[in-house]
Amino acid sequence: MTNIAIYPGSFDPITNGHLDIIRRASKLCDKLIVAVLVNSSKKNLFTFDERIHMIEDAISDLDNVCVKTFSGLLVDYCTQNNVSAIIRGLRAVSDFEYELQMAQMNRKLEDNVETIFLTASTKYSFLSSSIVKEIARYKGNIEELVPKKACEYLVEKF
Ligand code: PNS
Repeated sequence: MTNIAIYPGSFDPITNGHLDIIRRASKLCDKLIVAVLVNSSKKNLFTFDERIHMIEDAISDLDNVCVKTFSGLLVDYCTQNNVSAIIRGLRAVSDFEYELQMAQMNRKLEDNVETIFLTASTKYSFLSSSIVKEIARYKGNIEELVPKKACEYLVEKF
C-alpha cells in the first residue's frame, strides 16, 4: 500500500519553515502532496498560480513531493485521493489550540485520516508568511526567510 500524506495550507508565500516541514514529512511517506487552498476566505497577496510556482521551484529536488490545489473540505480531498495523513507544523503553544481544533474536526468528519504534527525546527519557530510579508513590505532582508523564488516574487510585489 502506498502511504500518501498531504501538507495543506495557504502558502502565501511558502517560507523556509514550510519547506523544512515538507522535507522532513517527505521522508515519512511514499508520496507527499503539498496542497494549496484556493477558495480561502483569507485575502491572499499572491494568486494561486504564483503560490504554486514558488512551491514547485522550492521542491524541485524532492522526487516524491508534488503540488496540487484543492477547494472545499480537506477531508473530502483526502478521501478522493487516497490520502491517509494530514501533516501540520507546530511552531509554538499559540498554534496548538487552532491546530487541535482542526485535527479533531477533521477526525470527526473522516475517521480514516490521521493528523500528524511535526514541530518546527527552532531556527524557524518565529517564521510565518504574514511576518515575512511585513518585512518585505518595509524592504527588510528576507533572503534567509523564504526560498529563492518566493524572495524574487516578494521583492517584485513590493
Ligand atoms: O496555512 P493555513 O491557512 O493555516 O491552512 C489552513 C488550512 C488550509 C489547512 C485549512 O483552512 C483547511 O483545511 N481548509 C479547508 C476547508 C476545511 O476542510 N475546513 C475544515 C477544517 S476543520
